[in-house]
Amino acid sequence: MNGGLFKILYCSRNYIEGEQAQQDAEISQILHTARANNSRQSITGALLFNSGFFAQVLEGPRPAIEKLFEKIQCDPRHGDVTVLDSGNAATRDFPEWAMAHVQTPSDVHACGVTAALDQAFLNPGESGRDVLTLLRTLLVQGD
Ligand SMILES: Cc1cc2nc3c(=O)[nH]c(=O)nc-3n(C[C@H](O)[C@H](O)[C@H](O)COP(=O)(O)O)c2cc1C
Repeated sequence: MNGGLFKILYCSRNYIEGEQAQQDAEISQILHTARANNSRQSITGALLFNSGFFAQVLEGPRPAIEKLFEKIQCDPRHGDVTVLDSGNAATRDFPEWAMAHVQTPSDVHACGVTAALDQAFLNPGESGRDVLTLLRTLLVQGD
C-alpha cells in the first residue's frame, strides 16, 4: 500500500448533549458519515461510545489517517482527544469494518469500560494495549 499501513488509537470525552435518543441519533450520524468517507479512503477501524467517552482506532494509508484525524480532533462533539498509540503496522485489527460500532455493555461490565478509559486519560502511554483489547473483545461479544 502506498505509504504503508498506519494506525491511531485515541480516547476522548463525549461532549454530545441531550437525552439518550439525541445522543443515539448523533452517534448514528457519526457512524453513517464515517462509513461512507472511510470506505472511499481504505480506512477501517472501530468506535466505542458510552455516555462519557469515545475510544476509536483508525487504520489505513498514513496520509489519509492523518488528514482524517485532524478533522476529527476539531469536531466539537468531543474534546480532550488523547492519543494512546500510533504508528506503522503490518496488519489491520478491523479489516472488515469501515467503522465498527463497539457496543458498551449495559450491565456491571460497563463500570470496567469506564474504569479502563479513566485510566487511559491518566496514563495514555501505558493504556493503548488494554483499550485495543477492550475494543476487540467488546466487538466480538456484540456480534
Ligand atoms: C468520535 C468521533 C469519531 C469520528 N470518526 C470519523 C471517521 O472515522 N470518519 C469520518 O469521516 N468522520 C468521523 N467523524 C466525523 C468527523 O469529525 C467529521 O464531522 C466528518 O468527517 C465530516 O465529514 P464531511 O467532510 O463528509 O462532511 C468522527 C467524529 C467524532 C466525534
